[in-house]
Amino acid sequence: MTLLSIEGLGISFGGLKAVSDVSFGVKPGEVVSVIGPNGAGKTTLFNMISGVYLPGSGKVMLNGEDVTAMPPHLLARRGMCRTFQNLQVFQSMTVLENTIAGYHLQESGSVLADILNLPAARRRAKQAEAGARELLRRVGLERAAEREAGSLSYGSLKRLEIARAMALNPRVLLLDEPAAGCNAVETEEIDRLIAEIAASGVAILLVEHDMKLVMRISNHIVVLDHGEKIAEGDPASVSRNPAVIAAYLGAENAAG
Ligand SMILES: Nc1ncnc2c1ncn2[C@@H]1O[C@H](COP(=O)(O)OP(=O)(O)OP(=O)(O)O)[C@@H](O)[C@H]1O
Ligand SMILES: [Mg+2]
Repeated sequence: MTLLSIEGLGISFGGLKAVSDVSFGVKPGEVVSVIGPNGAGKTTLFNMISGVYLPGSGKVMLNGEDVTAMPPHLLARRGMCRTFQNLQVFQSMTVLENTIAGYHLQESGSVLADILNLPAARRRAKQAEAGARELLRRVGLERAAEREAGSLSYGSLKRLEIARAMALNPRVLLLDEPAAGCNAVETEEIDRLIAEIAASGVAILLVEHDMKLVMRISNHIVVLDHGEKIAEGDPASVSRNPAVIAAYLGAENAAG
């Protein structure tokens, strides 16, 4: 069963077709990666899927429902969460507070209801804290819970961001460059974490430049170049596809 289905998505900025007619699907427990040279349209595609950009054409289907252009908080309630290429962590809050912040997106209680019903609000806060500590354990940050997020290493921050997205208990998780800026050890930790989350049945859509990580972890790879899907398949077939090799070599030549 396909949980997330991308159907002919496209968008232009001015005259530039940043993404055109891209389709693919992601099943529960599967890791699908979107790769391609710089400027290929990967982040733009993510932004359309996650409700940040309004697609010019095409549809995003989540569990059979058309969720095209639905804002991120409504997508989160339907089980789709994302992290960002540029970290979006609250630097001066603690690791625990950052993770707890993930829970508040999901809450329906109003401030007034909280004031009128303090015991329920306190109970919810306790549950959020317990849940956050459990997530920090899963991502290997339980000992850093009380530290300021700004004092963490880059790899730990990336894992914190994943923990915060997991607070929403997603069925589909979009990760934009989770290993960017990480060293080899940190990348391995991210690798293990993604595999674990997928094994729990979450559908994972990944944008990542680290080819070793992509080849190790993906069930399926979609290759973009100049906004178009030029290839897709399992890691072995994609890595020997002549069009893919040419796109990457072309990008290298263009960069000098
Ligand atoms: N908001 C925008 N306005 C205008 N052009 C944009 C906008 N966002 C992206 N683009 C353009 O769309 C194209 C695709 O950019 P995008 O950021 O999606 O690439 P990418 O594959 O994520 O690249 P990278 O690997 O460098 O992160 C680029 O030519 C970029 O300049
Ligand atoms: Mg990008």
